[in-house]
Amino acid sequence: VQPVLILAIETSCDETSVAVVKDGCEVLSNIISSQIETHRAFGGVVPEVASRKHVEVMTLVIEQALAEAGVHPQQLTAVAVTQGPGLVGALLVGVVAAKSLALAWNKPLIGTHHIAGHIYANRLVAELKYPNMTLVVSGGHTELVSMEQEGVFRIIGRTRDDAVGEAYDKVARSLGFPYPGGPHVDRLAREAAEAVALPRVWLEPGSYDFSFSGLKSAVLNVVNQSKMKGLEPNVAGIARGFQESVVEVLVEKAIRAVRSTGSRQLLLCGGVAANGGLRAALISRCEAEKIELIIPPPVYCTDNAAMIGAAAYVKWQHSGGTPLDMVADPGFSL
Ligand code: KG4
Ligand code: ZN
Repeated sequence: VQPVLILAIETSCDETSVAVVKDGCEVLSNIISSQIETHRAFGGVVPEVASRKHVEVMTLVIEQALAEAGVHPQQLTAVAVTQGPGLVGALLVGVVAAKSLALAWNKPLIGTHHIAGHIYANRLVAELKYPNMTLVVSGGHTELVSMEQEGVFRIIGRTRDDAVGEAYDKVARSLGFPYPGGPHVDRLAREAAEAVALPRVWLEPGSYDFSFSGLKSAVLNVVNQSKMKGLEPNVAGIARGFQESVVEVLVEKAIRAVRSTGSRQLLLCGGVAANGGLRAALISRCEAEKIELIIPPPVYCTDNAAMIGAAAYVKWQHSGGTPLDMVADPGFSL
């Protein structure tokens, strides 16, 4: 049988990425052009700037992805692209590029969901068993997603306010660290001698939803109280207290979700999957509870096109291509 070769494009936020993926699991190339240095000066991603940067590098990244994979466009099965969710102007650049290529090369188009991509990043490193449960933790998303069968997603819990990465970035900012602040808070938390006591937000009993904005405000209060007394805030202790609170709630709800759905695996994905505290806590809890845990390497956790190729493959197998008149959809549902 012919291999399924998908060229995938991801431009939902601040990474311009193009990959060539074989049979949904073998990455032939995965080129990522990050705009992080550009946005750092602004303390966060500026949508208008992100769109312009995608336009600047898009064709070059496409050429590199094909060259590194050693694949000629005519060998491709289809062209996939992140259709949403994300920043609309950023998504549009990828969608227009993908449509143009599909038209020029006479290949089918596969509009793909960004979170399906994050979830299927796990298929790049392991064989998935169903039913399974995914904890999605990124700068834009915090969700518990159940998959009873391949390609069928059910969101059982989500954040009601900030995404966990967003909370990390805001807390980092209030502690005096630049964007993106997650890695700084993570490092401080691990170095701290003790934790400043901060609340855990569990919401209603039985709920799989999350809320991080109250915790973020609690951090701000502690920082401001110190400053009012003319003292330097205990930055490391606050970072550790914040991280312990976040990790405890994420891990507890993820394990409970696995149990209540009879899931055979717990998958982790999104940029916050790089967090040392979260990884360590999940690894030890899953070991103790005999739950199979999959964590992709960092390059597949943060935004990348290989994960979009993996998710597009599954969509292609089950429902085929997407009409060429599809539109970028910032609120695209899973
Ligand atoms: O998945 P991602 O690259 O982009 C989105 O799609 O949002 O996630 C980026 C987020 C940022 O908020 C960043 O601060 C956070 O992931 N992050 C971390 C760590 N590394 C990255 N948060 C906590 N600990 C880390 N080690
Ligand atoms: Zn993402």
